Amino acid sequence: MSDKIAFEDAVDLLDADHKAVKSLFIEFNGLSDDQAPAADRQAVALKICQALTVHAQLEEELFYPAVRQAIGDDALMDEAILEHAEAKEMIARIQEMDAEDEAFDDTVKELGIDIDHHVQEERGEIFLKARQADLDLRGMVPALAKRKEQLQKKAAMPAKAAA
Ligand SMILES: [Fe+2]
Ligand SMILES: [Fe+2]
Repeated sequence: MSDKIAFEDAVDLLDADHKAVKSLFIEFNGLSDDQAPAADRQAVALKICQALTVHAQLEEELFYPAVRQAIGDDALMDEAILEHAEAKEMIARIQEMDAEDEAFDDTVKELGIDIDHHVQEERGEIFLKARQADLDLRGMVPALAKRKEQLQKKAAMPAKAAA
């Protein structure tokens, strides 16, 4: 696999994120079932939090505004934003939790269920409507890829430096 992955369009790029984070949740559930050491569970959970933070910001900065304008469905987009806000709250909680905490695994799993639901809604409604709309989804790929790289670098920095 090469470093530069070519994406068909914006939906393809964003859905690749969904698939990547889904495999991290599957990995986490496996570790949880095996009662893996806290450090291992914590590492995967933090990867999940980081990936979702970058993904949500990417959608909110670039993809959602363009889709909102093109499809004119404010209620649908407002609901997606609300779900992001709920996910961010849970992400913040997980980032502050210790994996030794007995509620840790359940909180991460709960986030996984919420994200599954959100992704189903994106695929079934937002992505569908975006593809039907008069929107240059192919043309959005370079800007999305560039911003994603910046956000990933920022997310990988220690919290203080990233502020
Ligand atoms: Fe989203
Ligand atoms: Fe998404």
